[in-house]
Amino acid sequence: MGKSTNIVWHDSIIKRNDREILNGNRSACLWFTGLPSSGKSTIAREVEYILYIRRIRTYVLDGDNVRHGLNNNLGFSADDRKENIRRIGEVAKLFVDTGIVVCTAFISPYREDRDFVRGIMGKGDFIEVFIDCPVDVCEQRDPKGLYKKARAGEIKGFTGVDDPYEAPKNPEIVLNTAEVPEVHRNALQVVDYLEKNGYIQRPQATLIR
Ligand code: ADX
Repeated sequence: MGKSTNIVWHDSIIKRNDREILNGNRSACLWFTGLPSSGKSTIAREVEYILYIRRIRTYVLDGDNVRHGLNNNLGFSADDRKENIRRIGEVAKLFVDTGIVVCTAFISPYREDRDFVRGIMGKGDFIEVFIDCPVDVCEQRDPKGLYKKARAGEIKGFTGVDDPYEAPKNPEIVLNTAEVPEVHRNALQVVDYLEKNGYIQRPQATLIR
């Protein structure tokens, strides 16, 4: 239960469906989840790029970026991660209401927190994209040098090292970036899901890149 009382929901004249018609697509939240350095942000940005070229409106909400602003008062305890995901879930829900495709790239290590977000969204609005990559491969990549710091004891409670990651049980999409390291191929699989499930239309011509 929230703390606000005496508040009344105010409906808008223009509904989500009107915005979707204007945009020419069904809106959705692509929820990328996975270990640090598994490829979440990189693939989310590539999906955004492909959709942009196809004139589909998108936005990427990214863990590191959101923690610079909206969530800069949160750390990495289980409670703070829960609040991080709750806020992002609510923000993503607003984005879905705008009629666009929102991509979120957060470790979101706890199943319960991700399921909470699924629960506040409408049926079919939440598309869980599990970036499945073994921790040793993520650790070899380590573009930010954070696994190294965690192993050296300079970061405590680092996901994959001394903090848990709970893999999704029934994600809509699974991308194994150790087996398929090409970013574009993974992104195309996500776009393909959106096409096959009627979120976006198939283009007239194929994009070759
Ligand atoms: S989440 O667990 O709450 O979903 P989020 O995706 O917002 O995490 O932020 C993860 C980013 O924070 C990582 O990419 C990394 O750069 C940074 N980070 C700093 N400390 C930690 C930590 N203890 N565990 C995981 N990521 C951390």
